[in-house]
Amino acid sequence: MTEIANGNGDQTVVRRITCVGAGYVGGPTCAMIAYKSPQITVTVVDMNKERIDAWNSDSLPIFEPGLEDVVMKCRGTNLFFSTDVPEAIRSADLIFISVNTPTKMYGKGAGMAPDLKYVESVARSIAEHAQGPKIVVEKSTVPVKAAESILSILEDAQRRSNNNLTFQVLSNPEFLAEGTAMRDLASPDRVLIGGEDSEEGQRAVAALVNVYASWVPRDRILTTKTWSSELSKLVANAFLAQRISSINSVSAICEATGADVREVAKAVGCDERIGSNFLNASVGFGGSCFQKDVLSLVYLCESLHLDKVADYWNGVITINNWQRRRFADAIVSELFNTVAGKKIAIFGFAFKKSTGDTRESSAIHVSKHLMEEEARLAVYDPAVTEKQMRQELVMETSEKSVNKLVTVFSDPYEAAKDAHAIVILTEWEEFKTYDYARMYNAMSHPAAFFDGRLLFKRKDIEAIGFHFFGIGSAPSHLSEVGYIL
Ligand SMILES: NC(=O)c1ccc[n+]([C@@H]2O[C@H](COP(=O)([O-])OP(=O)(O)OC[C@H]3O[C@@H](n4cnc5c(N)ncnc54)[C@H](O)[C@@H]3O)[C@@H](O)[C@H]2O)c1
Repeated sequence: MTEIANGNGDQTVVRRITCVGAGYVGGPTCAMIAYKSPQITVTVVDMNKERIDAWNSDSLPIFEPGLEDVVMKCRGTNLFFSTDVPEAIRSADLIFISVNTPTKMYGKGAGMAPDLKYVESVARSIAEHAQGPKIVVEKSTVPVKAAESILSILEDAQRRSNNNLTFQVLSNPEFLAEGTAMRDLASPDRVLIGGEDSEEGQRAVAALVNVYASWVPRDRILTTKTWSSELSKLVANAFLAQRISSINSVSAICEATGADVREVAKAVGCDERIGSNFLNASVGFGGSCFQKDVLSLVYLCESLHLDKVADYWNGVITINNWQRRRFADAIVSELFNTVAGKKIAIFGFAFKKSTGDTRESSAIHVSKHLMEEEARLAVYDPAVTEKQMRQELVMETSEKSVNKLVTVFSDPYEAAKDAHAIVILTEWEEFKTYDYARMYNAMSHPAAFFDGRLLFKRKDIEAIGFHFFGIGSAPSHLSEVGYIL
């Protein structure tokens, strides 16, 4: 059993964990805890009934390799999904706050700061419904000192209550990556837990350490001050995003000079001080986290009057936006400077392979640029529903444009039929298996191929007859004339 503090110096047992927020983090994380710790009862709650119904059905609300297997093993035994937030708060020893923290789109900090209204509303629910000691854990990605705000709300409830209320707030940011979430959770590089230096704070930290210690080696569980933990999550995502923007900036140099970004990345990554991970040039990073967390870091720096530091990290976002735009512009210019009325097959809409998540996907931005040029888009993705694609594009353009210009296909060969170009925007493995010669024969000619994920070799695609443009290597006509600076 996992032991936790009861505030009196002796110890109690963590039998029940509640997670508020049944999303890409809350669902998989709790499924893993339930699976690895059968002695703990885990309840995942969400205000979104549709999502909870899906968690309780045969068709889970998120696609994540290995997730279904784990959920089916534990659901109904020690893993439960519910919309009854008050009851789940009352019955829990430890509560994860795992709600969304999107970029704020209104008022002070609009377009930069994270919107903490969902985190605050959970803190208020805990303050309202808790009847005994609780360890409250920030699992959501939050700015530095968010734990302090949560604690203020909880301490106010504590002061006004006649119950035996005590609260400890910990930071335990999640580092899983969508697409490999279950592997990441089963064998994390590290688990990070931040807490207060006080005796009670350290007892709460120890209790959460024990939860993870059921399956994570102790030397991979790092304990720090609360603020270090909160900041580490933002910095980790900023470093990952920065590497992508760095290699993408190099891809532009390669296209202009005839160097090949894959060769450069390999040569650079062989240096073990640099390493080879996250050096794949692409059409830019997407997903719900990188952009929002870098912007959150930039906003934090601006708030602290660290303007030069803010500018430095903002460059990561500038390059990412520029890379998407550059790729879309290349499509237009390679197709004789006009795509108006031309059918273009878009392969991939998810922000990366092995997920159906489309939040901040580069595909949305490239599609938007092409729609502004009046291209007719034929979109195919193996994991994203038509409804979701349309919703994302309507938010960026208009319903009228989407109805006029976008068709969603369930067969990639139909999507490519009569198209002037195939554009690869997600690195799905299945894209490598298609019969592109068959597609080429059914396309409008000359047919072009734009590889935004470096899935293909230029010579293989050109051998079929396509005109090829790949991120980070010079177009054929440039290499033929031998581009000289
Ligand atoms: N998605 C990732 O890969 C990832 C990885 C690491 C960290 N994070 C962070 O984890 C947090 C959650 O991300 P996510 O992708 O799981 O978000 P999500 O949008 O998929 O899920 C959040 C859920 O919280 C629910 N919710 C919001 N307010 C609520 C309330 N007051 N009561 C009950 N339910 C409420 C929403 O209905 C939603 O289902 C974010 O801060 C994110 O930055 C995400």
